[in-house]
Amino acid sequence: MAKLTINGKDMDVNVPADTPLLWALRETLQMTGTKFGCGAGLCGACTVHLNGEAVRSCQTSISQASGKKITTIEGLDPKGQHPLQRAWIAEQVPQCGYCQSGQIMQAASLLAKNNDPTKEQIVEHMNGNLCRCMTYSRIQKAIQRAASDMRGV
Ligand code: FES
Ligand code: FES
Repeated sequence: MAKLTINGKDMDVNVPADTPLLWALRETLQMTGTKFGCGAGLCGACTVHLNGEAVRSCQTSISQASGKKITTIEGLDPKGQHPLQRAWIAEQVPQCGYCQSGQIMQAASLLAKNNDPTKEQIVEHMNGNLCRCMTYSRIQKAIQRAASDMRGV
């Protein structure tokens, strides 16, 4: 039995210590906002935060996540009103939507440290998050919009 702290709540999960966090979230806890894309650390669909840092949950074991603060898309904002979530709607970013929770979690880890990123910094930070629908330009715009919102301009 492992103890995890997910979105501010302590949860017990009865899985082997080497189980990927993504599996525990989706299969054991039925938290399906975090997506399974490649399962190999290559796409970013499974991105969550561990102590505020964006990580690939398919490559993070339960033992690595235990004792840390895990944040998933369900817990990024209690009402789904994080500036990025609002900007995503305003810019109509998603197409099929599959990659988008991972994109938002990756972007959130950038804006938590830097609320005025340059376009180059955005591109560099988001580089590993793939979108088969090619929504990249709208993702960049939405991140810039959310950053302005966070700066109050
Ligand atoms: S599912 Fe984890 S990086 Fe693709
Ligand atoms: S919106 Fe379809 S994969 Fe990104």
